[in-house]
Amino acid sequence: MDWGMKNRLSGVINPKTGKTVMLAVDHGYFQGPTTGLRELKKAVDPLIPYADCLFITRGMLRNCVDSQTKIPIFLRVSGGPSVLGDLSNEDITTSMKEALRLNASGVGLSIFVGAKNEERTISNLGRLVNEAEEYGIPVLAITAVGKEMGRDARYLGLACRIAAEIGAHVVKTYYCEEFEKVVEGCPVPIVIAGGKKIPEKDALQMARNAIDKGAVGVDMGRNIFQSENPVGMIKAVRAVVHEKATVDEAYKIYKKEKA
Ligand code: R5P
Repeated sequence: MDWGMKNRLSGVINPKTGKTVMLAVDHGYFQGPTTGLRELKKAVDPLIPYADCLFITRGMLRNCVDSQTKIPIFLRVSGGPSVLGDLSNEDITTSMKEALRLNASGVGLSIFVGAKNEERTISNLGRLVNEAEEYGIPVLAITAVGKEMGRDARYLGLACRIAAEIGAHVVKTYYCEEFEKVVEGCPVPIVIAGGKKIPEKDALQMARNAIDKGAVGVDMGRNIFQSENPVGMIKAVRAVVHEKATVDEAYKIYKKEKA
């Protein structure tokens, strides 16, 4: 890995713990004003001090995030369809020049293995990696978005391995039973998405399990910003990811903040 690439990644994946808490707030790129992110600035500002990275689109970055922020940015650079259309019909929407102009630490795009536009989204990843390698920008590939996608170890293992084979530097996927098998087959770091909002303790348990089975962290959205207490929740997630907290210890942090 080139120096620039290593340097960017080390700003996101903490070299001391080898872990990361990425905060995903890109949902609007196909869902519009998602619950919890309707006023993105209000939602995100209090969470930024506790996140290692913000995963966001260029539009929201420019309009809703202070340019003096120190938080590393991973830019969502794919899109196209809305939640009303075929989600797999994505292309690259943001150029590498834009990513550099915005001082991004990395870029991210979705691949849709097994969906209608599988081939195009995988070749999008290839093109993005080709360009990103020229500038030392890490690429995060996101797998298994969409209702119809199976989320078992066999499917996620397939999707993550393909992402790594095509050149992704980090892969974001979902947690599943036998998650260790997904990790085993994927030689690049994996972070998990949180998925739909579930009770806080369950989300902390999921994060704990994922870390124990080899994930380097989370790129979590709804289970943080849709929580009754987002700051308490991100602090609790941090404790799980970076401080080896048990679920009970982390849940206490959440409840204390809530109180
Ligand atoms: C999904 O396409 C987006 O990339 C989200 O960033 C990702 O799903 C993580 O958010 P959540 O934890 O809400 O699933």
